[in-house]
This record gives sequence, structure tokens and C-alpha cells, in this order.
Amino acid sequence: MSEIAFPDGFLWGTATAAHQVEGDNTNSDWWAFELKPGTPCKEPSGTAIEHYTRYPRDIALLAGLGFNAYRFSVEWARIEPHEGTFDQTQLDHYSKVVELCRKSKLTPIVTLNHFTLPQWLADRGSWLSPSVVGLFERYTRRVVGALGDSVNWYCTLNEPGMVAFGGYGGGFAFPPGLKGAESWKAATAALVAAHKASRAAIKELRPEAKVGLTNAMQEWESNAGGAPIMKYARRLMEDVFLEAAVDDDFIGVQTYTRARLEMPAAAGILSKLALAIPPVEKLAVARVIARQRDGGFAVSHDPGVRTTQMGYEFRPQAVAATVRRAAKLLPGKPILVTEHGVATTNDAERVEFITDGLRSLHEVIADGIPLKGYIHWSAFDNFEWASGYAMQFGLVAVDRETQERTIKPSARFLGEIARANRLQLPK
Ligand code: BGC
Repeated sequence: MSEIAFPDGFLWGTATAAHQVEGDNTNSDWWAFELKPGTPCKEPSGTAIEHYTRYPRDIALLAGLGFNAYRFSVEWARIEPHEGTFDQTQLDHYSKVVELCRKSKLTPIVTLNHFTLPQWLADRGSWLSPSVVGLFERYTRRVVGALGDSVNWYCTLNEPGMVAFGGYGGGFAFPPGLKGAESWKAATAALVAAHKASRAAIKELRPEAKVGLTNAMQEWESNAGGAPIMKYARRLMEDVFLEAAVDDDFIGVQTYTRARLEMPAAAGILSKLALAIPPVEKLAVARVIARQRDGGFAVSHDPGVRTTQMGYEFRPQAVAATVRRAAKLLPGKPILVTEHGVATTNDAERVEFITDGLRSLHEVIADGIPLKGYIHWSAFDNFEWASGYAMQFGLVAVDRETQERTIKPSARFLGEIARANRLQLPK
């Protein structure tokens, strides 16, 4: 056996998001979306895994496994159930979650917005509402004020690139379900502005806290024909948000797979021409061209490639490629892997995914990139948005009839790595 060691103080954690685990998040846009006829949602989130009430035992379980950090989100729809009305009992709830993390020696990493919006805001246009930036800033202030000195790590927005593409560009099943270049562009601009306003508010209230956003990033590949579209898609979905992070304290990187875009040379010429036309039209044209070949440019792979339950290529080391890319765009900026994981019913595959992912990240650290931690998605099997409960991303299984938690071998495996701050490799 040989082993690889990680830097002192490395953060080792797991992640969840409120809507995916808490249950009964009835006041949010996702709740309404899940129940709306005609959306591709497989099933409603319902009571989820009742983390809202079961968090004390869940946190004890995670701490007992050996982790030293826990990333979770606070739910805007609970905290501000009506515009301008803040519910102190909900703020107190999240303060208790934070305090329990600290007592359990888990560094809380708090995400202010993980996809869901209060329904009242959805009624006003969601991320296209003219007042959304100010509303997000006001909400940020209330949360940060309530959580006080106990939180040192904040993620403002989770994967804004996915929110903009999925909900406003027509990329996939996200509320509000809009399609089009204009709405995609407008949502992107609002999300960037909201991140900056939120960051400024946090820094004003808690100058010591580290603030960033989390970016959905893929290891992108293409042949020469696909290169113009690949670069263009990457710019819209990732680079604009990395650029928005230039003054952040860290970059959150979240990676699940590799995306390949192979197109014939003629398509390359066509797409170069398309990209030369004005920005608004570019978006639509880029999507159309990419879709013709791949049925969407988010994820594609060769037929026959090993895939996960989600249909993505099984590619654990993609995370090293994305961390390297983030480091190239923003040199010297601390990076935190805020999500990395795999949907599989075979837990041995998760152990393999973690091992190969960590091996690749260790090389990144050896090359001098300031990687500060690894947060695995997810602590528990949970509500995988439109795909429902069938996808198993968890280190811990949950029987939703009884709400019983069962620790999988992968949880013990990663927990031991966390405890030792090193990974034993088979020779
Ligand atoms: C999201 C999570 C999601 C995970 C797995 C990320 O895009 O932040 O909410 O469950 O990927 O698909």
C-alpha cells in the first residue's frame, strides 16, 4: 500500500441542499413545479428525508463518520414566506443547525440559495423580476445577521449557470421553464448581480467570512469541428460566473462528468459563422447547432462508454480538469470542491469514484493549486430534482417509508480518509 496525504486543515465534508432533504418545502417554486402537470418531474419531493426535523441525528452521524465540514443550504421560502416578512423561528432553526455543526466539530458551509425560490418571488418573475437583486441582498442580510459569528464559509448561489440554462434557456427541467436566448441572458445577468450584491452584504456584516459561489463545471472536450461551440457553451455556462468570482474569497467547483462535443468540420465552419453574429442570436443558434448533433450540449459521450445512473459518463477525474481550469482563469484563488459525486446503485462504484477523484485532486495540489477541501455530493440519498428519488448519490441510504438511515461502505471509506487526512492506495 502507498498513501497520499492532504494539506493540514483540509476540509472534508458532505453536502446537501434544503429542498432535497428537508421535506415539505411547500412555499417554493420547486414545490409548485413538481406538482404542475406537464413538467418532466418524476415525482414530488414530499417529505423528502425529513432532515428538517431529523438534522440532530444526521449531523451526529456525519461527525461520527470522521468528516470535519458540512455544506447545507438555508431555505429562502421558509425564511421569507411572504415578501418582506421574515420568520424568526426559521432563522432560529438554521442557527441551531449551525450551532450543532460547530459543537460536532463540523465546519458549517452555508449556501444561501440552492436552486429554489419563494413562490411569491416566482409569481413576480423569479430571476427575471426587476427587484430580484435587491430582494436577494435583503434576504442575505437577514440570514447573515441571524447566523452571526458562527459561519465562516458562505456560498451565495449554487450553480447559477445551471439555473440560467435550465430554467431560462430551455436547457432542462427547471422552473420557471422558460426557453430562449433573451431570458437566458437576462437571468445570467441577474444571477451575477445578485451574487455580487450578496457578497458585498456578507463582507460588510462578517468581514472574516469567506464568500464564494459554486460553479457547475464539466471537463469539456471537442474535436476541431466542435471547438467553437464547445468554447461558446463553456463561456455561457461557466466562464461568466467564474469571472464574477474575481473578487471572491474562494471558487466553489462542482463536477460530475465530462462533456464531449464532436462535430464534422463543416459544422465547425457553420458554428464559427454563427458565433460571428450579434450576441442575442448567438445563444439560440449555438444551441440549435449543438442540439442537432448531440441532443443538447450539456452532456454527451461516445456510445458504449461507462455511464452513471444519471446517464453521464463515469469520469471521476473530470474534477481535476475543472479545478485546473478554474485555477487557470483565476490564478492563486483558493478553490473548494463543493460537490463531486456519482449516482449509482452499486456502492463499490462510489468508492472507486472517490478514490480516482481524490487521486486526481492530489496531483492538482502537488502542482501548487490552492485546493482547500473536498465536499462530497451527497451525504444522503435524496430528492434529485426532476429525476426524483431513484438516483442514489448518497453515502448514506435512506428508507423513505421508515426514514431509517443506513451507512454505506463508501461513507465509512471517505470518513476514514477524512479522519486520517490521507488516502491509502492499493499498489
Ligand atoms: C446540484 C445538486 C444535485 C447534484 C446531482 C448539482 O448540480 O447542486 O443539487 O443534486 O448536482 O445532480
